[in-house]
Amino acid sequence: MPVEVEYHPGVQTDGPKLATTENLKICLATSELAPLAKSGGLADVSAALSAYLHREGHDIRVLMPFYSSIKREHLDIESVENLQNLSVTIGPWDIEYAIDRATLPASGLPVYLLRCPVLYDRPTLYTSAADEHLRFILLSRVAIEMCQHMRFAPDIFHCHDWHTALIPLYLRTIYSWDKLFAATRSVLTIHNIGYQGIFSADISADLDLGADEHHLHQDDLALGRINFMKTGLLFAHLLTTVSPTYALEIQGAEYGMGLDDILRVRSDVLLGILNGVDYDEWDPATDALIPQTFSSNDLSGKAVCKQELMRELGLAGDASQPLIGFVSRLVGQKGIDLMERVLPGLLARNNFSLAVLGSGESRFELFFESLQRAARGRVSFYRGYNDKLAHWIEAGSDMFVMPSVYEPCGLNQMYSLKYGTIPIVREIGGLADSVQLINPAAGTGTGILFRDYDEAGLAWAITRALELFEDRVLWQKIMQNGMAMDYSWQRQGEQYVKIFRRLASI
Ligand code: ADP
Ligand code: GLC
Repeated sequence: MPVEVEYHPGVQTDGPKLATTENLKICLATSELAPLAKSGGLADVSAALSAYLHREGHDIRVLMPFYSSIKREHLDIESVENLQNLSVTIGPWDIEYAIDRATLPASGLPVYLLRCPVLYDRPTLYTSAADEHLRFILLSRVAIEMCQHMRFAPDIFHCHDWHTALIPLYLRTIYSWDKLFAATRSVLTIHNIGYQGIFSADISADLDLGADEHHLHQDDLALGRINFMKTGLLFAHLLTTVSPTYALEIQGAEYGMGLDDILRVRSDVLLGILNGVDYDEWDPATDALIPQTFSSNDLSGKAVCKQELMRELGLAGDASQPLIGFVSRLVGQKGIDLMERVLPGLLARNNFSLAVLGSGESRFELFFESLQRAARGRVSFYRGYNDKLAHWIEAGSDMFVMPSVYEPCGLNQMYSLKYGTIPIVREIGGLADSVQLINPAAGTGTGILFRDYDEAGLAWAITRALELFEDRVLWQKIMQNGMAMDYSWQRQGEQYVKIFRRLASI
C-alpha cells in the first residue's frame, strides 16, 4: 500500500516543522546529470537538487551511467574499492560492470558512475537500439545493488522519469528479501510524461520478475507491451512532478498521455514541486560565460551582451530593435509548429530580430534554416548544442519565447527572468507557475502569457510584448520585477526534504 502523505496535488503547503534534524540517506538514480551528461532540463535538475541535498548535509549517493561522452579531463575520477569487477544477471545475460566515483568541481558532489562499456559506449545518451531497455534496467538494478555492496540503507530511493522507474517494483520483488531496504521509501519524479519507456512484452524475461510477473500491468501485457513509467507510477510510494500545475494537468486526458487514469487513482500521493534554478550557473551578476555581467541596479552590461550577441550571430539592427531568443530541443512538445505558422507573418509586419539555438527533429531544423535564409540579418539559427551561446542568448535577448504544447516545468523562462529577458510563454505547466502576467497600469508582473494553443494566441503574445517594449520605463520595471524573483534550489529543495522526511518518518 502506498504511504499516505498529507499533500494534495498542486498545493505546496508548509506543514508543521519536524522536531528532528537527522540527516536523510538518499540514493538518487538518474539517466542525466549536468554537466556530465545532458539532453535537457532533467540533467540540470538532477545535478542541482543533488548538490543542494549534499550541501545541506544529507548523505546522498547519486548513480548515473558512465556514458562514453563523459570526458575524463577536468574530472577527478577514482575507482571505488569493493565496487569493481561486479556482475548482475539480467534475463539470460551476465552483465559485467564497475563503479567509479567523480567529484563535481562546482558543488563537490560525489557522483557514482556505472561503467559498462557494452551498454553505455554509444554516440548518444539515448538510442533506439534493441537493447535500450537493458541499459536502464541495468542502471536501476545496480542502483539497488550498489546500496547493498555499500551496506547503505537509504531512507529514500529517488527515481527520475522512466529510466529508473522500475526501482520501486524491484524493491518490492527481486530485492524484497533484503532487510537493508525494510524502511526504504521510493519516490518517482515525473519530469516529462511524454516519454514513458514503452517496450515490447518480449523483453519481460529481462525484468527477472519470475513469479512476481503478475505485478506488471496485465492489460498492457495482453496488448504486447511493458511501460516502465506506468510501472513506476503504480509502485512508487510517492509521486512528484516538477510543477504544481503540471501535477493537475497530467490527471486529465489532454496532458496525461494515457496515464491520467492511474494518476487520478494515485492523486493522494502525487505532488507538484516547482523546479529550482542553479544560480551558481545562471546569474548575470556572476556569469563567466557572458560578454559582460550585469545586475538589476546596473543594466548597462545587458546592452553590451545584446550588442555582442547580435554581432556574433550576424544580426543587423540596433539596440532599439527588440531581440527575441529561443533555446530548445527542437521537438513537438516545444510548440515549433505554431512558431512555423506565426513567425513569417510577424517578421513581415514588425521590426524585431530572432536568435534561435537548438537541435532535434529535422523538420524543425529545416524550418529555422529556411526562416534564416528568408530573413537574413534578422533571424539567426544555430543548429546544435552550445552551452555558452545559451547563456549569451539569455543575457542578450530582450524577450524569450516558449509556446510549448505542454511544459512540465521549463527552466529557460526562469533563467530569462533572472537575466531581465521577458518571457513570452503559454499559460501551462511550470510556465504558468513561474511567470506572472504584466499589468502595465500597476507596473506589476514578469511576462506575457497566452492560453490557447493557436496562431492567434502566439501572435497576440508576441505583438503585445513588442508594443510594451516601446515603453522603456515600464519595460525596465518589468525586467527588474523578474530579476527579483527567487527560484533558487534553496527554496524548492526544502520542499523535497520536507516530504522525504514525512515519508521516511524521520
Ligand atoms: P527540456 O528539459 O524539456 O528540454 P527545460 O527548459 O527544462 O526543457 O531545460 C532545457 C535545458 O536545456 C536548459 O538548460 C536549456 O538551456 C538547455 N538547452 C536546450 N537546448 C539547448 C541547446 N541547443 N544548447 C544549449 N543548451 C540547450
Ligand atoms: C523535462 C521537461 C521540462 C522540465 C525538465 C526538468 O524535460 O520537459 O519542462 O523543466 O524535465 O524537470
